[in-house]
Amino acid sequence: MTGTVKHTHWSKWKCPSNIALVKYWGKRDFQKPMNPSLSFVLQHAFTETSVELHKDGDQKVEFYFDGLPSSFGDRIEMYLDHVSTWLPWVNKYNFRIHSCNSFPHSAGIASSASSFGALALCLTELDFAISGKETDSPEFWKKASELARMGSGSACRSVYAGFSIWGQTQLFEACSDEHAIPLLDGVHPVFYGLQDAILMVDSGIKEVSSSVGHRLMDEHFYQRSRIAQAHENINKLYLALLTGNQLEFLEVVENEALSLHAMMMTSNPSFILLKPNSLELINRIRRFREKSKIPVCFTIDAGPNIHLLYFQENELDVKAFIERELLAFCENRKWIDDGIGNGPEKLMN
Ligand code: PMV
Repeated sequence: MTGTVKHTHWSKWKCPSNIALVKYWGKRDFQKPMNPSLSFVLQHAFTETSVELHKDGDQKVEFYFDGLPSSFGDRIEMYLDHVSTWLPWVNKYNFRIHSCNSFPHSAGIASSASSFGALALCLTELDFAISGKETDSPEFWKKASELARMGSGSACRSVYAGFSIWGQTQLFEACSDEHAIPLLDGVHPVFYGLQDAILMVDSGIKEVSSSVGHRLMDEHFYQRSRIAQAHENINKLYLALLTGNQLEFLEVVENEALSLHAMMMTSNPSFILLKPNSLELINRIRRFREKSKIPVCFTIDAGPNIHLLYFQENELDVKAFIERELLAFCENRKWIDDGIGNGPEKLMN
C-alpha cells in the first residue's frame, strides 16, 4: 500500500555518534563486517538531519550542511540509489536534506556514524509512514540500523541507546551482520555512567580513510587471528558488562584499541596513526591507573586522538588528572567531555 498524506513527506531525527570497544576492522561482501563489534553511543556528539520529499525540479538531492549546499550530497545520492532496492519509493521523489553536527568536523569523532544514523532513521520513518507500518516496533529499529549500515558500517550501532553489538557472534542468535542489536538487558549499573573524555591530539584530516583501512584487512597476514581475537574479546567484554567486572573491561578495551592500530601498522601498505603525544597520553593513563587504583582506560579510533574512559563515581579525580597531567599533550589543550548516551530522538521541527 502506498499513501501520500502530508506528514509522510518530512522527517527529522537526532542521532548520536558511537565509539567501539571491540573494533570493526575489515569488511566482507557489501558493508558486512569481518568480525563482530561492540560499542556505546555518545551523549553530546550527534547529528540532526531532516529529510523532505518533493517533486519540484529535477535535482535528485539537495543537501545542506549547516544551512549551506555541500558536496556530501553526491555521496548521499549514491547511497539513495543503492537503498532504493529496499525502498522503491525513493525513485519517485527528490530529496531536500538539511544536516548539522553538534561537534566540529575536525573533532576526531566519527561523523559518518551519526550522519548516516540520522539519515537512516528519517528514511525508515518515511518508509514506515508510506507503507502504513507501526513505527514503535523492534522492526523499525532493525530496519533503521540496516539502512545506516549501508551508508557507513559503524553507523548501524548508532540507532540504539547505550551499548550495542553488530555482527554474528556465538553470544546471541539475534546477532547479525545485517544490523546491530541493542544490549538492553543485564548490563551492570556500574556501566550506566560510563564517561568518555576525548583528548584531541591532532584535529587534522585522517591519513587513511576507513574504507581504505578496511580493505587492508583483505590480505592481512593476521586476518584469521584478528577475527578470532575479536570473537574472544567480545565474549569477555560482554561477560564483564554483565558482571560489573571493571578490571576485565579495562583490559579488553585497551587490548582492542592497540590491536586495531597493530593491524594498521602491520598491513601493506602500513600506517602509523598514533602520534608521540598519543603514546604520552597512553603511558600517563596507565601510570595514573596503577598509582591511584582508579579504574580508567583508553580506547582509540582510526586516528591519533585518545578516548579516556572512566566511571561516574571517579569523575572529580579523573577531571583533576586530565587538567593536571593530560591537557599539555592535547592540541591547544582541547578535549571533549562526553559519555554514554540515550540514543536517537525524533524531532518535531
Ligand atoms: O564505519 P566505518 O567504515 O567508518 O569504520 C569504522 C571503523 C572503526 O571506527 C575504526 C572501528 C569501529 O568499530 O567503529
